[in-house]
Amino acid sequence: MATVIAPSILSADFGHLAEEIKKVADAGAEYLHLDIMDGTFVPEITIGAPVVKSLRKVSDIIFDVHLMVEHPETHIKSFAEAGADIITFHAETAKHSHRLIQQIHELGCRAGVAINPGTSLSMIEELVEDAEMILIMTVNPGYGGQKFIDSMLGKIHMLYHMIQEMETECDIQVDGGINPKTSVDVREAGANILVAGSAIFGAENIATAIKDIRGQEIHHHHHD
Ligand code: DX5
Ligand code: ZN
Repeated sequence: MATVIAPSILSADFGHLAEEIKKVADAGAEYLHLDIMDGTFVPEITIGAPVVKSLRKVSDIIFDVHLMVEHPETHIKSFAEAGADIITFHAETAKHSHRLIQQIHELGCRAGVAINPGTSLSMIEELVEDAEMILIMTVNPGYGGQKFIDSMLGKIHMLYHMIQEMETECDIQVDGGINPKTSVDVREAGANILVAGSAIFGAENIATAIKDIRGQEIHHHHHD
């Protein structure tokens, strides 16, 4: 599976979002990762659906909306209407996670489910069939620029095998501390969608950073 790069606007200049998005899209990024924080599930507050709606007018890059909010069920409709292509909610925030996936699909979006570093894969095992993507957080959500948590590599690998064994298709996204170095490890473990904030927006040359994070294609050995 070809690697997808999803720059996170959390590390972009919020005063010039339109230009920042154009920069990463021109540099070859496939997705734009939008971090939505509510000040409750995580301490900070970022942006809401009205901002996403305005950004939708300046770019047709795939909008990958990462909801770090409590009660995601009350917000998915406004983000879908604002132009989200993928909506990811945290398993920790959803009482009826399977229903939420169905609702995201009814709104015409792809559904992702995220889990924190301290949350077990068992939380999402029954969702892999129906969700298009599982997001393994490789830092604790809330801030950009944190250090990659090495023990998440085993978790990514376990999820990769779980998906293979189920003979289903589901993307594995990773988010937090991704740079050209950790990229190799997460891709070897089985991740195919890589979010990166500081390593892209903090780089001198954005196109080079994206190319370095994408790296060389890795071939996995599949089980029959
Ligand atoms: C963290 C966010 C990430 C963040 C990643 O809570 O979900 O998307 O922007 O930032 P880096 O790549 O700098 O770790
Ligand atoms: Zn994120």
